[in-house]
Amino acid sequence: MKKDTPIDSNVVKRILDEMPFDDIGDASIREIVRLAGMIEEETGEKYIRMEMGVPGIDVREIALEAEIKAFKAGYASKYAPIIGIAPLKKEISRFVKLFLDIDIDPEYCFTSVGSAQGSIALFMVANRTYTNRRGVLFIDPGFPVQKLQIKVLGYEYDTFDVFNYRGKKLKAKLEEFIVEKKISSILYSNPNNPAWISFTEEELQIVGELATKHNLVIIEDLAYFGMDFRKDYSEPGKPPFQPTVAKYTDNWTMLISSSKAFSYAGQRVGMLIVSEKLYKSKFPDLKRFFSTEQFGHSLIYNALYTLSAGVSHTPQYGLTALLKAVNDGDYNYRDDVKIYGERAKVMKKMFLKYGFKFVYDNDLGEPIADGFYFTFSYPGMTGSELLENLIYHGISAIALQTTGSERHEGLRACVSQVGKELFPLLEERLKKFHENFG
Ligand SMILES: Cc1ncc(COP(=O)(O)O)c(C=O)c1O
Repeated sequence: MKKDTPIDSNVVKRILDEMPFDDIGDASIREIVRLAGMIEEETGEKYIRMEMGVPGIDVREIALEAEIKAFKAGYASKYAPIIGIAPLKKEISRFVKLFLDIDIDPEYCFTSVGSAQGSIALFMVANRTYTNRRGVLFIDPGFPVQKLQIKVLGYEYDTFDVFNYRGKKLKAKLEEFIVEKKISSILYSNPNNPAWISFTEEELQIVGELATKHNLVIIEDLAYFGMDFRKDYSEPGKPPFQPTVAKYTDNWTMLISSSKAFSYAGQRVGMLIVSEKLYKSKFPDLKRFFSTEQFGHSLIYNALYTLSAGVSHTPQYGLTALLKAVNDGDYNYRDDVKIYGERAKVMKKMFLKYGFKFVYDNDLGEPIADGFYFTFSYPGMTGSELLENLIYHGISAIALQTTGSERHEGLRACVSQVGKELFPLLEERLKKFHENFG
């Protein structure tokens, strides 16, 4: 780059050339983490890191204490039960009732090594329910790792960008895929990573009713539970409740991550919940891969078992303590995480000031909520060009093309690592970018 840039352009160019990808727009989150890390190390300049959704908040003491107690009690030498420890199952069941208003017996509440493991286990079973069906349909844009999981498993998937198919339009689009492509499951995240749109009750009803009609498994990924800050879903047992497809079909599974809402990413413990009816459903074609034709048994005793044979005891006890406090109304998780929305508000203003535009800019006509992610572009640049140019300006992000988005001009920004002490540096760099390209 010939322009005057905040980061030494010779170093950036050399390191970019050494990277294994041909197009920076195809780089994964972890590849961008490495790229920015290498440039930081060589130049001594810190990046504004917006590529990875690392929680920027300390975990609550109550969880740490519970983990330490469990560790000292000698659990390290014992295998954890594959179905999850009983107190955690109980608190997950309470959580689902109190915050989603869905009744589910603790028997159908499980734990996985992060939601990431929950999704791969579900793919292994939900994609094999029928010999003549292809696999999962991603309502995109979405979390790139889930597509990587599908690829690693050797499956096929289908995808469409939901932005132009919101509201009633969703039904025809979904049905077209379900029938033509022979879909066996549907996955979406709500709120959506990266677009930060949230499905309405009407849309969830459409998804649920189609799931029942076509006997599909819904994988509802609630990685950002309660983090649509336009509403307050955090009062136990009181409406409004986090919207869920479980109101509209029995064919549901849910992934509730502890990583973001409870800042518990490092301990790799997530919640995996399966409706009782689906758990007990029988699909004879599952026998090709599993010891049984029952959905739930295949999921827990075959798929999850082969992946890690359970989750370590101590994080399960830590999460149990957190959930109990949340369920009892002693800890309001939203109070801790709403800072992400406040940060997004300031950062989005700054991006607009320096000539950037938002890509997913409305949620059914309403402004997109301020939350963990936002998406942006710069006039006249593709996403790859924008990302490369931002790297020279000390700002890292990921391209939307890796998320199943059709908006290849855009990037995803995550606000979690950009504390307010970094706002002046961010502003300085965005300003310089705009001077160089505006
Ligand atoms: C949409 C979505 N699903 C799942 C996950 C995985 O979460 P976990 O840390 O619980 O594995 C993430 C993490 O960023 C995510 O954004």
